[in-house]
Amino acid sequence: MSTILGIESTAHTFGVAVVKDGKVLSNVKHSYTTESGGIIPMEAAKHHELHKNELYFEALDKADLIGKEKEIDAIAFSQGPGLAPCLLEGLKFVKELAKKLGKPVVPVNHCVAHLEIGKITGAKDPVMLYASGANTQIIAYASGKYRVFGETLDIGVGNFIDTFARYAGIGFPGGPVIQSLAEKSRNYIELPYSVKGMDISLSGILTNLKQKLDKINNFDNNKKANTENAGLIVNNHVKLRANVNERGKVNYTLEDLAFSLQETVFAMLVEVSERALAHTGKKELLLGGGVACNKRLQEMCKIMCEERGAKFFVLENQFLVDNGAMIAFLGEIMFKAGIKISGKKIDKIDILPRQRTDDIKVVWK
Ligand SMILES: Nc1ncnc2c1ncn2[C@@H]1O[C@H](COP(=O)(O)OP(=O)(O)OP(=O)(O)O)[C@@H](O)[C@H]1O
Ligand SMILES: [Mg+2]
Repeated sequence: MSTILGIESTAHTFGVAVVKDGKVLSNVKHSYTTESGGIIPMEAAKHHELHKNELYFEALDKADLIGKEKEIDAIAFSQGPGLAPCLLEGLKFVKELAKKLGKPVVPVNHCVAHLEIGKITGAKDPVMLYASGANTQIIAYASGKYRVFGETLDIGVGNFIDTFARYAGIGFPGGPVIQSLAEKSRNYIELPYSVKGMDISLSGILTNLKQKLDKINNFDNNKKANTENAGLIVNNHVKLRANVNERGKVNYTLEDLAFSLQETVFAMLVEVSERALAHTGKKELLLGGGVACNKRLQEMCKIMCEERGAKFFVLENQFLVDNGAMIAFLGEIMFKAGIKISGKKIDKIDILPRQRTDDIKVVWK
């Protein structure tokens, strides 16, 4: 029996959770968002500092641990990869708690945590399509490590969507807004399709989309940076279409671009996932990471799995986006395998902003 506290702070989200024997007792979080523009790492770190105590007590309360902190066996935290100021804020908090409660610390890799929490779906040995903000990888377990079979050669799919959304004047995170815009269109506009072997590339598609958006907006470069103007694009997209049609030059809207973006890029992700299933001979696909919340991506993965007789698994949204539960969940598995840092050694723990999935020796399997 072990009770593990999990702390997540790699990017936009500060999350605190309690997991006991593989069961999530509490999972609370607060995320940094913006009206326009992307994440400013120092601002996100300030956000974490502001919310950490309240989230900690909320997580304890929901797990019925207020006044019973002694029952916690260890504190797991996201050591990397992530934004350094955000990771540092998490580590500082973990060191304070470890001292106060006299508990050991379990350093967890954020990406492996996204994978391991997939076990609660019932998936046993899946290929995972890990589609999040900073990361896009096709991962499967083989000979002691989670091997990366394919990945983005430039930007993560979530960052790609957020960057396009930002260009259209939509704040962070852009993914959910792009999804609802896409649902309003069925007008496919051709975009570059960029699969290279098992890898994908997104920066060319981003440039192409920005050029298409420029055509809609007909804004000059100076105005592009002006978020106030850009905000109008989203609000007045219907009017814009009318204007565009009047000009007779471009016959598509922001919704059409959002729809085409999803159809193209998700097809690329599904293609490489299917190839990884064929290559590894595995029979399960697990979808994870924040972009996995997207209903159309889920639908496309499901269809592919049905067609090739594989099983499809996807987590609840609360476990797809960054969360403390996945950190506590993997933390417990590692703790039970004897991985923990105690006493004075805790002071020496550092963050690992560039740690990679396939750097981690999976000694607990
Ligand atoms: N419905 C949706 N459709 C598409 N993208 C979405 C949706 N919901 C959330 N996202 C995207 O998910 C991303 C956040 O995911 P997550 O919280 O896992 O990412 P992260 O921590 O930034 O990345 P990483 O796990 O690589 O460190 C954002 O880019 C956001 O736009
Ligand atoms: Mg994440």
